[in-house]
Amino acid sequence: MDSKNKDLRHLAIIMDGNGRWAQQRGLPRFEGHLAGARRVVELIPFMEKYGIEYITLYAFSTENWKRSAEEVQYLMNLLADFLDDNLENMCKNRIRLRVTGRLADLPDFCVQRLNSVMEKTSCYQERTLILALNYGGRTELTDAVRKIAASVQDGSLRPEDIEEKTISEHLYLPDVPDPDLMIRTSGELRISNFLLWQLSYAEFYFTDTFWPDFDEAELTKALDAFRKRNRRFGGRP
Ligand code: FPP
Repeated sequence: MDSKNKDLRHLAIIMDGNGRWAQQRGLPRFEGHLAGARRVVELIPFMEKYGIEYITLYAFSTENWKRSAEEVQYLMNLLADFLDDNLENMCKNRIRLRVTGRLADLPDFCVQRLNSVMEKTSCYQERTLILALNYGGRTELTDAVRKIAASVQDGSLRPEDIEEKTISEHLYLPDVPDPDLMIRTSGELRISNFLLWQLSYAEFYFTDTFWPDFDEAELTKALDAFRKRNRRFGGRP
């Protein structure tokens, strides 16, 4: 089978199950996150191999602040280490880093590294890795509504001119195409406030595999399942 996915431009992933993966092995939760981060590193060369232009990873949700201070701190440090260790890897694979979410609320040491890696990889056009950080779909839509309301208030936009396109144009990354496939690992069957607007026509793939075990074989299983789907976008077959 052709390894390229002509119809799959954008893959979105909810990387779930790090904690349970660790628990199953009698390890502390952070070991699961560390193993999960290694899987993220592994995805980098797969973008070219499987012809995927965009991957969006749900790395930290607006709800994840409710976790213990130690776990939040660990995840932020892990993100910083990932950025420090993978700039070269991203450049070698010609991948641009972008972020979606309320970036300003992340710790400064993360924001600085994110800005630096985004700037250094901004020259790459072929493939983009998007980290959803301090991201929530409802927050994104709330932010979009605020911007639109401001335009209405200053008279530059009439309410009757607001269309679906207007909403899309006010999301965090308006130029990124909607995901074609959304994968969630670990057996949970929810989208948990991820890309609420953008997932409208995405195919969903759920697997019981925990994120740290989501290897190349698991990825190709998901890509094969996607190829077999009949996407009609509300139209007839
Ligand atoms: C869900 O597992 C995972 C997260 C909340 C964080 C995702 C982070 C990573 C995969 C690693 C860091 C990422 C980067 C980009 C360096 P969980 O803790 O909710 O697992 P559980 O449901 O089994 O407890």
